[in-house]
Amino acid sequence: MIFSQYPATRMRRNRSDEFSRRLTRETTLTRNDLVYPIFLIDSENGEEEIRSMPGIKRHGLNSLIKTAKACVHKNIPAIALFPRINDKDKHLDARSAYDDNALIPRALRLLKKEVPELGIVVDVALDPYTPHGQDGLLSESGKILNDETISILCKQALSYAYAGADVIAPSDMMDGRIGAIRKALESHGFYDTKILSYAAKYASNLYAPFRDAVGSVQIGKSIDKKTYQMDPSNLQEALHEAALDIAEGADMIMVKPAMLYCDVIRVLKDTLAKPTFAYQVSGEFAMIKSACNLNGLNERDWILESLLCIKRAGADAIFSYFALDAAEWLS
Ligand code: PBG
Repeated sequence: MIFSQYPATRMRRNRSDEFSRRLTRETTLTRNDLVYPIFLIDSENGEEEIRSMPGIKRHGLNSLIKTAKACVHKNIPAIALFPRINDKDKHLDARSAYDDNALIPRALRLLKKEVPELGIVVDVALDPYTPHGQDGLLSESGKILNDETISILCKQALSYAYAGADVIAPSDMMDGRIGAIRKALESHGFYDTKILSYAAKYASNLYAPFRDAVGSVQIGKSIDKKTYQMDPSNLQEALHEAALDIAEGADMIMVKPAMLYCDVIRVLKDTLAKPTFAYQVSGEFAMIKSACNLNGLNERDWILESLLCIKRAGADAIFSYFALDAAEWLS
């Protein structure tokens, strides 16, 4: 790069007019970049507020369809489903995770009938289905059982694929699950079912409101997932994780959380050149909401800047609880 000197070069020249700012803009955020996560409850007409996520609800099936139609109307390409399972359906062997008549498969069949054009991403992990809220099965001594968990995840993924899922998104961080799920899908003829791997998922404090939303951990209580989710200190390990998931058959990779982990997004995107998604998680939602509530700040500007910057870091798409609002503002 050759830098000429002031006043030949005035960086402010291109910034001085709206038209030149538009022409020289390097990153644009559009509605094509958004995925809207939706929480579900097992109910026809019900809806519940979520204490830790003001403005976000748990939806019964009718409300789900209404929200899904709103997403299509706002040109959001896809939604992601997260269930709040009834406590009686939580078991140590997580068997409700692959029950074809459980909430998620029923929701999938309904969505595919009512809004076939909307992409549906489903989370594959056991935490909503176990009484302890861990993403895996536990041994007698309380250890997470990697391979036993994978065999449940494969059944869960197949159950969702049969019900019409477009994208299987394993968020559990067990070793080897992408390869096993890919093999299961291929051997059952699901050649076009995509796998979005939560490849670099950090053991973050920012998931607390989500855990309240799906009822996996009570608000105020903590849960230790450090034996499978990544240490926030590590960047090279993220590259290794993501490369393995790609080799095992992931079509897209995810970094999670997003805002505090933009460096990870950039490195994965530049190094692996795969579709790279980011999850602006529940704690990031809460941070922005609280800041704006406390200070009367302009939520719209904060939200759009947060999403734009995640995109600038290299994300191709962003899971965000702000997706519906953002899509409205971007239309
Ligand atoms: C569970 C899962 C979590 C999130 C998505 N899938 C929480 C966790 O790992 O405990 C977090 C999403 C959010 O915070 O918005 N497999």
